[in-house]
Amino acid sequence: MLIANALGSPPVDVIEQCHEAGLKVAALAGAPKHALSHVANGVDIIVAQGYEAGGHTGEIASMVLTPDIVDAVGPDVPVLGAGGIGSGRQVAASLALGAQGVWTGSIWLGTEEYRNLAGNQGWETAFLRATSSDTVRTRIYTGKPARLLKTRWTQAWEEEGAPQPLPMPLQNLLVADAHNRINASGDPDVISMPVGQIVGRMNEVRPVAEVMADLVAEFEATVKKLDGIAGI
Ligand SMILES: Cc1cc2nc3c(=O)[nH]c(=O)nc-3n(C[C@H](O)[C@H](O)[C@H](O)COP(=O)(O)O)c2cc1C
Repeated sequence: MLIANALGSPPVDVIEQCHEAGLKVAALAGAPKHALSHVANGVDIIVAQGYEAGGHTGEIASMVLTPDIVDAVGPDVPVLGAGGIGSGRQVAASLALGAQGVWTGSIWLGTEEYRNLAGNQGWETAFLRATSSDTVRTRIYTGKPARLLKTRWTQAWEEEGAPQPLPMPLQNLLVADAHNRINASGDPDVISMPVGQIVGRMNEVRPVAEVMADLVAEFEATVKKLDGIAGI
């Protein structure tokens, strides 16, 4: 089993308790300095999560971040690449950048299993029509920068005269009720939802098993093609 933490390492005593219970601990990092601090605190696995990702995210894109973190932590610390991974080609790219595996989030929002959890069709309509330009990194969700679907709600916060988001944890307290009401409405024009730039390629809703099989098949085809280019 794995415990994963965003927004910093878990407290050191929690990491120690996890280890005593035989659990591995992972933590997300948006910059090499975050990864080094996680390692110093005893985290086992670093998730190098680039700017493209849904949810809380830093300023460095995966193409630059992954090798920077892999080199910073050295060969003894496993690194998972994350942010912008929604196809087998992107899995292969992340491994080519030095990651030992990948960590994904947004892709699972475009699945039948998520449809069964979501409760209404608003998300699905919004995801299916969104392009990769239709996300925004904003502090309106929690007070810290997080990538959300761009909607009339996120745009309202950018209008002239709109208030500045409050620092974490106050912003979430301020907007949580509004988000619940907005999301319950099922209106795809206003929903408030973390999603990454790969939303532009989430064009149909499929079972998780099918998405997984496609990831693997495209990854294998990509590696084969690259082998051919390298003349191996
Ligand atoms: C809807 C959504 C909710 C998320 N919530 C969390 C969270 O609570 N904790 C966390 O560590 N990461 C969270 N993430 C980030 C994911 O763990 C993952 O790092 C990220 O989605 C990877 O980038 P991708 O969205 O491009 O696949 C969330 C992502 C999404 C899309």
